[in-house]
Amino acid sequence: MTDPASDTENRTDYWKNRSPGWTEAASGAKPSNDTFNLRLIEEVGISPDMDVLDIASGTGDPAITIAGKIETGSVTACDMTPTMLAVAAARAAKLSIDNLRITAGNMTALPFCDSTFDAVTSRNGLMFPNDKIGCAREVLRVLKPGGTAGWMVWGPIDANPTFSSVNAGLKKFFGENFPPRLIRHNLGAPGLLADIITQAGFAKAEEIELKQERLIKKDNDYFRRAVARTAPHRIGTLSEAEWTALLDDVQNACADYRDGDIYRIPIVARLGIGTTEI
Ligand SMILES: C[S@@+](CC[C@H](N)C(=O)[O-])C[C@H]1O[C@@H](n2cnc3c(N)ncnc32)[C@H](O)[C@@H]1O
Repeated sequence: MTDPASDTENRTDYWKNRSPGWTEAASGAKPSNDTFNLRLIEEVGISPDMDVLDIASGTGDPAITIAGKIETGSVTACDMTPTMLAVAAARAAKLSIDNLRITAGNMTALPFCDSTFDAVTSRNGLMFPNDKIGCAREVLRVLKPGGTAGWMVWGPIDANPTFSSVNAGLKKFFGENFPPRLIRHNLGAPGLLADIITQAGFAKAEEIELKQERLIKKDNDYFRRAVARTAPHRIGTLSEAEWTALLDDVQNACADYRDGDIYRIPIVARLGIGTTEI
C-alpha cells in the first residue's frame, strides 16, 4: 500500500496544513496518552531540577506533562511548525503551566548550544526526517555529559489497528479512501531505534516495546480527536449533526474492540533510550 504523504511529511507546509486537526484534537488541553508520556519520563529519568528539551513537541506532548514535574529546572518545547507550537502554548496557558519555553526549530539542526540539556525527549517525531542518525547526533550534541535521551515512536501498523478502523469509518462517511500514513510506522520494527542511537554515537542504547490496552468510553472525544488528526482537511465545514453521524461511522468501524460501553484499543509503541558518557 503506498502512502501519498510519505515524501512530504518532513516538510513544514505539510505539518502547517495538518495543524487545524491538531488544534481541534488538543482543544481539551489535557495530554493525549499520558500513560506513555509518564513512561517516557520515567525511562529517561527526568527529575525536578533538570533542564529538559522536548523535540517535535507539536501541540505539547510530552512537554506539558514534563513541565508539571519540573520545579527548579526548565522545559523547552521545540518543533519546526509554529502553528503546532501555538497550540502547545495555548494548552499550557489553559492548564496554568508557566514554566514551558517554546522554540521553533528543525531537529536536523537544533537551535541550541552544545551541552545545554540534562535530558531530551521526543514523542512520535523521529519517523519523519530522512536523516534520523543525523538528528540523533544533534541530540547528543545538545545533551550535557551524562545526559539521557528518549525517543518514542509508533509500533507496526498491524499492532495499532485503530488507525485502519478510523480510516474505515471515514471512508464510509465521506465515500473516499483515507490511505494509512505508513511513514508513521517506519521505526516500528524492533532494533531500528537502537541502531540509530548507537550509530549516532551514544555510549549506550536500549529499546523497549510499550504495549497498552487503552480503555475508551463510547462517545468519548478520543474518536473526534482521532478523526481531526487523520483528516484535518475534511473537518473544517462539518456541522455538529455531521460530526455525530461521522463519529457513529467511526465507532461502528471500531466494533471489534467494543466491550459493552468501552472500547479496548490496542496500542504498541517503541521507546529508544540513549545514554551519554559522564
Ligand atoms: C505526530 S506529531 C507529534 C507531536 C507530539 N510530540 C505528540 O506526540 O503529540 C509530529 C510533529 O513532528 C514535527 N516535525 C516533523 N518533522 C520535524 C523536523 N524535521 N524537525 C522538527 N519537528 C518536526 C511536526 O511539526 C509535528 O508537530
